[in-house]
Amino acid sequence: MAKRTSSFVCQACGAATGKWAGRCESCGEWNTIVEEQTGGVGAAPGQAQARKGRVVPLVGLSGEMKEAPRIVSKVAELDRVTGGGFVRGSALLVGGDPGIGKSTLLIQAAAQIARLGHKAVYISGEEAVDQVRLRAERLGLTDADVGLAAETSVEDILATLKAGPPPALVIIDSIQTLWTELADSPPGTVTQVRASSQALVRYAKQSGATVIMVGHVTKDGQIAGPRVVEHMVDAVLYFEGDGAHQYRILRSVKNRFGATDEIGVFEMTDNGLKQVTNPSALFLGDRSGSAPGASVFAGLEGTRPLLIEIQALVAPSPLGTPRRAVIGWDSARLSMILAVLEARCGVRFAQHDVYLNVAGGLRVNEPGADLAVAAALISSLSGVALPPDSVYFGEVSLSGAIRPVSQAQARLKEAQKLGFSTALAPQANLKDGNREIASAVGLSELSELVARIAS
Ligand code: TYD
Ligand code: MG
Repeated sequence: MAKRTSSFVCQACGAATGKWAGRCESCGEWNTIVEEQTGGVGAAPGQAQARKGRVVPLVGLSGEMKEAPRIVSKVAELDRVTGGGFVRGSALLVGGDPGIGKSTLLIQAAAQIARLGHKAVYISGEEAVDQVRLRAERLGLTDADVGLAAETSVEDILATLKAGPPPALVIIDSIQTLWTELADSPPGTVTQVRASSQALVRYAKQSGATVIMVGHVTKDGQIAGPRVVEHMVDAVLYFEGDGAHQYRILRSVKNRFGATDEIGVFEMTDNGLKQVTNPSALFLGDRSGSAPGASVFAGLEGTRPLLIEIQALVAPSPLGTPRRAVIGWDSARLSMILAVLEARCGVRFAQHDVYLNVAGGLRVNEPGADLAVAAALISSLSGVALPPDSVYFGEVSLSGAIRPVSQAQARLKEAQKLGFSTALAPQANLKDGNREIASAVGLSELSELVARIAS
């Protein structure tokens, strides 16, 4: 039996210290340090029996792997985010705010996998079996043969899973409700979450099942406490959305078996989540009228081109320090674009309030949106509506130069597909001609955009 000692563990970042403190020195959070028993986890060094491992060739016959290495759900939006299906023997973490639809997404995914003939098990630590069943009925999943269990003890869960034929997909909803006898702390603490997740990750590797764990996110956007879990799993997906909108985005922030920053777009309906195969239409807003201040950004989310409407309102300000408010974009980036417009193009915003909004509640992180933001700002300030058939993309540097962005061809193609005929894009992106859209205008300086809109 290992000697029990207690240590003080930060519930936000997992850092351990020898004494209690009001503030965690590692992450700076207040009131997150809790005393936990740690000595009980695993065996002490030296006591464990060493077992000989086996070395196999890196390439050549895969030997034991008889089945396809991935389980494809055939839900395109889901498979894109996982990188082409769930990898067998991998562990995933799906994070998101409470009530965003994680349980709904995963019970639907489990049903889909079961319909394709794989064994899927859904283990809920938050709801009783009858509640999960009621939800499944409401979602029209009664034809799918998904195994249900309501358990919170990791040892019980592993025993349940090991009885009977091995499942292909296991869903654990959620890791914060789990507890294992290997750790003494109460459920929800970092020690418990870490020990429980470790046991489940080990189970995934040994059994070849894909294990998906649900994690709740705290108000500041971290997966509550167990950021440590993010390092243990093979992929971390965030399910995000905005209370005011029906759509939800599944985003991969870490993926050992695929690209990160891929997104899958879903819509929450009365009958659960439906995939949205043409999300550009969703983020374009209502484009029937052409009011000043709206531009269309030809963006890129992961590998997928996405058209997004950017809205700006520039209004005379009664305040000494005018207001700058941004939704869906980086406010420092907005300040930079305003400064470049003032310094390099002579467009003055000093007497004006500036509001910027990304339509549909989406959050844009790409610097490639600079040109579309600048176009919306100039349009609103001058009161001149932008041509409704144009899209914009390009990064603006501090010197006012327009820098090229990645995947210009894909962006142009998406714009053409959705009925746009003109693109204002970095000159450097159009060097070897343009066959993707009817008309592409190459810009190398921000002042050229100002001249085009104002003329
Ligand atoms: P849920 O999957 O329970 O969220 P989470 O597991 O992330 O906490 O989703 C709960 C919300 O989704 C709830 O507010 C109601 C809504 N919802 C629908 O709009 N339609 C549906 O068919 C279902 C099942 C839920
Ligand atoms: Mg839930």
